This record gives sequence, C-alpha cells and structure tokens, in this order.
Amino acid sequence: MEKLEVTGAKKLKGTIKISGSKNSSLPILAATLLSSKKIKIYNLPKVEDIETMILLLRSLGSKIKYNKKNKSVDISNLKNIKTFASYNLVKTMRAGIIVLGPLLARFNRAKVSLPGGCAIGARPVDIHLKALSKLGVKYKIVQGYIYAEAPKGLIGNVIKFPKISVGATENLIIAASLAKGETILKNCAIEPEIEDLINFLRKMGCNIKWTGKRTVKILGVKSLKDLNYKIMFDRIEAGTYMIASALTGGNLKIINIIPKIIKTEIDILKKVGATIRIKGTKLRIIGRKKIKNIKLTTSPYPGFPTDLQAQLMVLLCKSFGRSEIIERIFENRFMHASELNRMGAKIKILGNKAVIEGNINFNAAELMATDLRASVSLILAALTAKGKSIVNRIYHLDRGYENIEKKLKNVGAKIRRIS
Ligand code: EPZ
Repeated sequence: MEKLEVTGAKKLKGTIKISGSKNSSLPILAATLLSSKKIKIYNLPKVEDIETMILLLRSLGSKIKYNKKNKSVDISNLKNIKTFASYNLVKTMRAGIIVLGPLLARFNRAKVSLPGGCAIGARPVDIHLKALSKLGVKYKIVQGYIYAEAPKGLIGNVIKFPKISVGATENLIIAASLAKGETILKNCAIEPEIEDLINFLRKMGCNIKWTGKRTVKILGVKSLKDLNYKIMFDRIEAGTYMIASALTGGNLKIINIIPKIIKTEIDILKKVGATIRIKGTKLRIIGRKKIKNIKLTTSPYPGFPTDLQAQLMVLLCKSFGRSEIIERIFENRFMHASELNRMGAKIKILGNKAVIEGNINFNAAELMATDLRASVSLILAALTAKGKSIVNRIYHLDRGYENIEKKLKNVGAKIRRIS
C-alpha cells in the first residue's frame, strides 16, 4: 500500500499548472456512448478515475485509444455496445452511474450496478431513477443492479428535480439528447462541469439550451457528428493549491484556469486575508501571516463547493479566532476532522456544523486518508506541521489529483511517495 511522506513546514513558491477537470471528464466520457462517430477528447487529467471510466466504457464495447502521454482519447463506438455495467467497475467510481442515461438513450435498455455509498455518504441515485422514469424508463433493482428499459424509446417530458443533483442533471441531459421530442429539466445543478458537458454535447450535434437560471431545454436529435473536445480546467484542484499557498504563507502562480469560474473561492480566500492578483488565465496568490476566521456554508454552484470544504478547514485551523463550516451537501463529510485533531487541531463536530478553533500548530503524525478530498486536506496540514508526516491509503488521492507530489515538490514541498 503506497504512502506519502511529507516534511513540513515549507512555504510554497513557484508555479502550478492546473490539469483537466476530473468531474467534467467523467460525464463527458460517459456521454460518448451516445454516438458511433469519431470522438477525440484531450486535456484529460491523468488520475485513476479516468482510467476506471475508460475500463468501464471498454467493458461496454467502446473502442477507445487512450494516449496517456498527451492525455487524450480517441473513441469510435461500434454498433455492438453492451449495456451491462458491472459492480466491480462502478463500485470504485460512483460516476459510473452516468452511463445509465446514454445507454438507455441509444439502446433503450441497460443493466447498471448501483454505485453504493462511500465515506462521505449514502450517495443514493433515486433522483436519477425517478427522473428517467419520467422519460418512459421502467426499472427494477435486483441484487444491487438496476435493470432499466424503455420499450418505446425515451420520450421527452417536463421534469423538476426535487433536489439539486450534479449527477442526476448530467444523466438526464445526456439521456434527453436522443429522446423523442422536447425535455425541460428544472432545478438543475449549474456547476461549470455541466456547462462543459453541454458544450461537448452541442459540438456533438445535440440541441440544448438554458431557458432559465436552473432550467434547460433539450430537443432530441437523430444524428450526431464527429468531434474534438478539450476538457475544462479542474477548479477543485486549483482551489486546493490556492489554499495551500494561503496556508503556508506561500507565493504561488496558478496557471491554466478561468478565474471567473472560481470567483467564490477567490472571494473567500481574499476574505481570510490572502492577496490575489488575477491576469488572464493565471492568478498569483500570496499567503499572509494573519489568516482571518470566517463562517461558511457549502452549497451548490455558484456557492462554496463541498469539494473544497476539507481543504478550507485546514486553513481555518490557522486563523486568528473561531470559525464555523456548515456542510449542506453531504451527510458525512467531516471524516478529516478527527485526523486533523490528531495533528493538534481543535475541531468540534455538531451535526452538519464544524466549529474550528484557530491559532493551532499542526504536529506531524501518521495519518489515514478516507476519501479524495479528506486525503488532500491531510497533505495540506502536513505541509505546515514541523517534522515528518505519513499519509496512508493515498489511492484515494490518486483518484483525483494528477501528479500531486511532483506539482508540490516543484514549488518547494518536501514530499515523497513510499511503497
Ligand atoms: C458530484 O457528485 C461530484 N462528483 C462530487 O465530487 C461533488 O461533491 C458533488 O457532485 C456535489 O458537487 C462528480 O462529479 C464525479 P450530487 P454527485 O448528486 O453527482 C444527494 C469529488 O470529490 N443525492 O450533486 O454524486 C447526494 O447524496 C466528488 O470529486 C440524492 O439524494 O453529487 C448528496 O447529498 C465527491 N439522490 C446531494 O444529493 C440522488 O439521486 C448532492 O449529490 C443523487 C444525489
């Protein structure tokens, strides 16, 4: 089992290039199942979840050439796509559920494993399934698998999501793209990764347009086109390294980003006291000694993202005073707090609220990662702790952060992978 050894305390200085977005790549790769045309996608992040999604698509019969070196795939989906997505591929990467929409849209049937929960919550897919049934899908769940079919094909309808869900919005936009007639989806998630998916589908020949802040109209199409597509930058990776700079009193230049997409994160980091200068597709963030305490609630885009909550918690441990974070998206996303407390943090969890005492110094320790974003928060804390920390179970990290130790080493961190 690989570990990361991190020796703090180090100020980070230099430039970090942001990779393609994991959470944009996954639904876009799933959406390629809609088409038998030639598709080239580049700027994919070199992370485990992308490899798992490629394995899943191959298991369905997709012809995919994956060029890891230049982070691109060439896909041509022959007609003989299977419609069975197995448990062993979906269980490690929950986004596998997003093959359900395209399989039903193109083949009117699918057998897809229920993704199951993970460390941060039960992660049900009821919103996906209820919405798909509004397009004429009949489904039953037998022994952990969703057996779904649409005998008359998918038929457009008006659907209002009971709760904002990124994955359900993505699944339904993809499914409705080939449905007969018009579909209106209301109360959609509007994360930038969904905008990226829509841009990809439009380039593929789909007919999709926003008609309200959270309302999208999709007209089913009959034919699709070949396309090339570049994945957007990973805003959570960018936010993570920005917090690392603020936390270590560093001076980092973050490049390959679109600053307006991360306006909320920039505003919050300025509020806690970091200096941020924006120029085109780059920004410089300088950490200040005095980090201010704040109260924050995570919420769907354009609010503060739940995927940066663990990282911000580390920063607030160093602030001059008491802070509070309320986690509104997932029911169990404070797993990192107990590990941070073992490093000397003083975090109290009261339901979905974390109360964080400031002015602490992290001590190096042996640590255990539990989920993707919790593991990176342990790395951040280790960067500021005097001495050598070990972070175990870093396979969680490798799911979503490309070359994290190389990127951090290049800006002065003392970090190495040990098997
Ligand atoms: C996506 O997960 C992201 N994953 C998550 O990032 C991110 O945290 C989340 O959106 C919220 O922004 C990918 O894009 C691959 P949801 P998703 O459906 O789609 C509940 C990371 O670290 N819900 O918006 O699964 C759900 O339990 C990952 O990169 C239902 O109840 O999130 C959660 O409480 C972690 N029923 C809330 O809604 C459903 O059918 C939001 O979930 C679906 C969701």
